Amino acid sequence: MTASSSAVISADQAAAVSGSNFRHFMRNWATGVTIVTSSFGQQPIGCTVNAFTSVSLHPPLVLVSLAEQSRTLAAITTRDVFGINMLAWRQRHLAQRFAAATDDRFADVPYRLECGVPVLEGAMAAAVCEVERAIVVADHVLVLGRPQWFDCADSPDPVIFFGGWYQTFSRMGEG
Ligand SMILES: Cc1cc2nc3c(=O)[nH]c(=O)nc-3n(C[C@H](O)[C@H](O)[C@H](O)COP(=O)(O)O)c2cc1C
Repeated sequence: MTASSSAVISADQAAAVSGSNFRHFMRNWATGVTIVTSSFGQQPIGCTVNAFTSVSLHPPLVLVSLAEQSRTLAAITTRDVFGINMLAWRQRHLAQRFAAATDDRFADVPYRLECGVPVLEGAMAAAVCEVERAIVVADHVLVLGRPQWFDCADSPDPVIFFGGWYQTFSRMGEG
């Protein structure tokens, strides 16, 4: 037994895995950070999402997982279209802004409309997707999207979310 083995949970204890120790497990998975966008009429809507992945190549499909009470989810399923904005390091402040309880997430955030969807200026890469399918799973909804448009800045400095902290490649190893 190692010092960290108190966090080990065996398969037959799986039913006992709670939300908080599941979070502890997921902290070990490094991801990028996206702002998922859509709109209600003229009002841009968006929130921070790291549950984003590609699903298939033929056809190209992506997936985002959003909490069922998410306002962004409501906008997406109303309009059947959404944007994915992969954050660059210089945009890291937006990760907290777009997760916070505020009506003003887009204040002073430069964006433009692509296919009618807000796309953040300066994102590492962005795509606009049509909703292919939305699948309710427990307290989240898996939204499958088919990209209609994308743009890549190919910046070397993405926001990386790991262990509950934001990092980037050029700063790794710094205190
Ligand atoms: C780094 C990070 C990643 C997040 N990833 C997700 C996610 O994948 N899915 C989700 O539903 N919420 C995620 N959240 C939480 C939402 O951003 C947050 O609940 C937000 O307030 C939802 O806004 P909305 O209700 O306006 O859509 C994340 C938050 C942070 C800080």
